[in-house]
Amino acid sequence: MMRVAIVGAGSLGSVHARAAASLPGVRVSWVADIDRERAADLAGQVGASASADVGGVLGRDDVDAVVVAVPTDRHREVVELAAESGKHVFCEKPLALTLPGARAMIAACDRAGVRLMAGQVVRFFPEYARIGALLREGAVGRVATVRARRLNVHPGSHRSWYADPARSGGLIVDLMIHDLDTLRWYFGEAERVMAHDLSTRPSAGTLDYAVATIRFRGGEVGHVEASWAHQGFRTSIEVAGDAGLLRHDSQEGISLRTERPGSKGGDYLVPISPAEESPYRAELRHFFDRLADGEPFLTPGEEAAASLALALAVRDSARTGQPIVPESIVLGDGPVVPGAGAGSLAEVTA
Ligand SMILES: NC(=O)c1ccc[n+]([C@@H]2O[C@H](COP(=O)([O-])OP(=O)(O)OC[C@H]3O[C@@H](n4cnc5c(N)ncnc54)[C@H](O)[C@@H]3O)[C@@H](O)[C@H]2O)c1
Repeated sequence: MMRVAIVGAGSLGSVHARAAASLPGVRVSWVADIDRERAADLAGQVGASASADVGGVLGRDDVDAVVVAVPTDRHREVVELAAESGKHVFCEKPLALTLPGARAMIAACDRAGVRLMAGQVVRFFPEYARIGALLREGAVGRVATVRARRLNVHPGSHRSWYADPARSGGLIVDLMIHDLDTLRWYFGEAERVMAHDLSTRPSAGTLDYAVATIRFRGGEVGHVEASWAHQGFRTSIEVAGDAGLLRHDSQEGISLRTERPGSKGGDYLVPISPAEESPYRAELRHFFDRLADGEPFLTPGEEAAASLALALAVRDSARTGQPIVPESIVLGDGPVVPGAGAGSLAEVTA
């Protein structure tokens, strides 16, 4: 039985607590939040104990692993404390706000001999996972372009810390990172980015929009849009290759379409019914399964750090109006050098 502590009892902490409580072989033993009432409320829902003393919970013997779902600017202190307490860590995305911060968190876990997985959950969404599998099979031939969009209401309207870029990283680091991480998973490292955003407009803070063009080392060209100026949430992605097209739009009834010249193409029905496993449960199941069998995570800290590096490059480009080469990150066997990095279309071994 794995005993897990949830740190941060807000929106994502609640999602993770319920998901963890539903997994066989996993028990939520503690919920910790600096807001004691929130901790107690969530703990009551999953049969856990509650505390406002995060360090005390992390040091307990009845905690084997920790899910970190605090605001992004607090990730580092909680992850480092969990590592020092000898607990395996699942940390929400974005892993950190800076690359030195991300590297320090990875190093702290390495030093302590604990494992670190990041919640880059889009890799666990059935449509995006299926696109990855189809690309691996060569379903659209050689990929030329990809367009990805992620449009949402401004999260600062219900949680004020999101509106402060010093706490959330802003639209690109908080939201666009989902698609940047997914595209890195599909195509490997980016060589160069160019981006624009509206974060300097007077309405920024409540409305924001960003668009990035990305050239990958394999020559693929990406066009990525993110918005905090919409009503409601929607995502879409279109991957075009020399043998066809893959298309997903969260607002369509058919979740994944293919088009091929000279053929009728096909529609893949990807399960999105509430009866199916949620991607959040799937990623936590992956976390606990990989802890048990010792196999690598699909989204280890290093992968999340490389996706953060890409997001920071996009943000720098939007700020400076200049094309930017993402900073390299050491992954596995060595540094990921832009233009020479290894694509990492690993399978979801969920
Ligand atoms: N993967 C996704 O789809 C997704 C979606 C939304 C948010 N997130 C990420 O999840 C994280 C949490 O976001 P949220 O929307 O749940 O935030 P939230 O504001 O709803 O909840 C955060 C909770 O953490 C508590 N907290 C703050 N500082 C703390 C500390 N030092 N120790 C313990 N508790 C502390 C707060 O009291 C609050 O209850 C963020 O990093 C965010 O980017 C991920």
